[in-house]
Amino acid sequence: MKAKTSFVCQQCGAVYAKWVGQCPNCSAWNSLVEQIIESESSKKSALAKGQVSGKKLDFVKISTVVPSDAKARLLTEFPDLNTVLGGGILMGSVSLLAGQPGIGKSTLLMQICAEVAKKHNVLYVSGEESAGQVKLRAIRLGAEAEKLSFAASTSANDIAKTIESGEFDLVIVDSIQTLAMDEISSAPGTVSQVTNSGNLIIRAAKSTDTAVIIVGHVTKDGTLAGPKVLEHLVDVVLNFEGDRYGGFKTVRAVKNRFGSTNEVAIFAMAENGLSEVQNPSAALLAERTNTDGSIILATLEGNRPILVEIQALATNTNFGYPKRTASGFDINRLNLLIAVLERRTKLKLNDKDIFINVVGGMKINDSAADLAVCMAIASAAAGRKLGEDYVVFGEVGLGGEIRSAFRADQRIAEAKKLGFKHAIGPATIRDKFVIPAKDLRETLIKYVR
Ligand code: TYD
Ligand code: MG
Repeated sequence: MKAKTSFVCQQCGAVYAKWVGQCPNCSAWNSLVEQIIESESSKKSALAKGQVSGKKLDFVKISTVVPSDAKARLLTEFPDLNTVLGGGILMGSVSLLAGQPGIGKSTLLMQICAEVAKKHNVLYVSGEESAGQVKLRAIRLGAEAEKLSFAASTSANDIAKTIESGEFDLVIVDSIQTLAMDEISSAPGTVSQVTNSGNLIIRAAKSTDTAVIIVGHVTKDGTLAGPKVLEHLVDVVLNFEGDRYGGFKTVRAVKNRFGSTNEVAIFAMAENGLSEVQNPSAALLAERTNTDGSIILATLEGNRPILVEIQALATNTNFGYPKRTASGFDINRLNLLIAVLERRTKLKLNDKDIFINVVGGMKINDSAADLAVCMAIASAAAGRKLGEDYVVFGEVGLGGEIRSAFRADQRIAEAKKLGFKHAIGPATIRDKFVIPAKDLRETLIKYVR
């Protein structure tokens, strides 16, 4: 039976009987969300009488509480992923695994299931694939554990009821966008379905201490379309990023109530599923040929130091505006660095198309990548290459000054480990390995121009 619902504007709280694209009250677009009307009349009368309907909380002395961590966590076969999770999957926790379609979410979860199902009861619920299709993947991944069950369902109510039965220690829901709650008429994937279905499942998980992992698809530009609203509700949000075709993929926690958000697990996809990359720097540099425009950056992925190759290409602009393209690097940051280069180093770039590529599908989100990107551009524009045994790191300020980078010692250690002889880095670092760079112009003239 369909429950009575109304549409509530999430911006101003106005209530409507029908959905409209723009809220007539506050003019916000797409802000109406369908909500179930709960017998308002009884609530209202109690309020009118000034009565408080709640009851006194059952509180406990915090000293007597057994920490949930004391219970064993469910371990995956991936040590780095366990670290990202804060030491494994906590019982009763609800995690959201978000990523682009095709990146490998179902694959990763099937591999997690296989490992956990060696000891625990695990249920994989899919709203996207049939038992046969999932079985094919399980065979391919060697994930045919005895305690692993499967169900095809798109009903949030049924899934919540199943979780509530307490039969399973871990339940996978693939994916939130396919779920619908019986009481709500809007289509699967809409904000109201995602929020209400999510809430239902979270409540069921908490009441029975069942660990749940929910899959959420995100759109290409990285925004969590529907799942964004779930981010506030769940305990852990894992982002699965990287190239869909080949290259490395990273899993990092952007939110974790039970662990740090600085850790990252790096994966590669092969014929028989995902595997953790033990030494990403070595793998990333394996195919390197030292050409102009190629600079090795000592960066950090979460807490891990990593060496990646930054490639730049500068070609003459044929007509119109010069084109600037970046893959794995923020385009706005690139435009800013080009402006700094033009103004502070007199390098002429306004007649050049500039392309930046971070090798291996990595996404760089580190201010200390600035100097490497600038040097790569200068090197490409001048056709001069930097020596083979140099790594580079440092932030570039708008004045063309080179600023300090955090965790410099870790970057240096990683470079030394992989046989590099020098680093060009901020002048504040006192280490013989680092050639101090104070000013962008001086540094470029000395090394790549
Ligand atoms: P999938 O996990 O279904 O992606 P998602 O659930 O995020 O949409 O699969 C991602 C891709 O990985 C798919 O195109 C096929 C490929 N793949 C492999 O290369 N090896 C494997 O062992 C598996 C299972 C998939
Ligand atoms: Mg999938």
